[in-house]
Amino acid sequence: SKAPVITVDGPGGAGKGTITQMLARKLGWHLLDSGALYRLTALAAMRQGVSLEDETGLVTVAATLDVEFEPGEVGQPVRVLLAGEEVTSEIRTEACGNNASKVAVMQPVRDALLQRQRDFQKAPGVVADGRDMGTVVFPDAPVKIFLTASAEERARRRYNQLKEAGVDVSIDAVLDEIRVRDDRDMNRSAAPLKPADDAQVIDSTGLSIEEVLDRCMAAAGQA
Ligand code: C5P
Repeated sequence: SKAPVITVDGPGGAGKGTITQMLARKLGWHLLDSGALYRLTALAAMRQGVSLEDETGLVTVAATLDVEFEPGEVGQPVRVLLAGEEVTSEIRTEACGNNASKVAVMQPVRDALLQRQRDFQKAPGVVADGRDMGTVVFPDAPVKIFLTASAEERARRRYNQLKEAGVDVSIDAVLDEIRVRDDRDMNRSAAPLKPADDAQVIDSTGLSIEEVLDRCMAAAGQA
């Protein structure tokens, strides 16, 4: 019998990263940040001089990604190493997220990353964060959550994060980028972003992190 999986899918900025880290820590389970794999594929491609339009080249990059995830201290993000070099903050930039969503439309690139994602299913369990965790990667997961929030709320959260980090942007620019990325993720033919038929939808608009975590834990109670 296989280890249990809780999938958490949804659009960018809905709070999946924070919530899945808290869930995994609370349960003592592994964490799969599938978005990081797409971000790393885009970053590794740029470093290796592979164009984001070169599908064959991107498949090779994805298939040979040399990546390590090191759990950080409590409250600290998971450290991400690409070919031994720390890229934790580098993969979080808007540019990298945008490039990730471009490579993620290519089905062969997704195929190249599929087994690597499924390998995270280990005892005692895994919390899987992404866009297609419940629909494609772990279709048999006993608990599926679709975590969403209005585009305006997601833009506000992202804007506040950026401001705190000292980045000078306008909230309208952030909202525009969110809309462009949502559109690309939802309207692609390969594993489009949508709730699995058996997913529980949680809308985090107006909720605190604690309230969202409580709702996710209640949903996870069925794992
Ligand atoms: O979640 P994150 O913002 O890190 O994901 C970056 C991009 O990677 C997303 O916009 C999406 O296009 C892609 N992605 C995906 N499937 C996943 C996770 C991420 O297509 N399971």
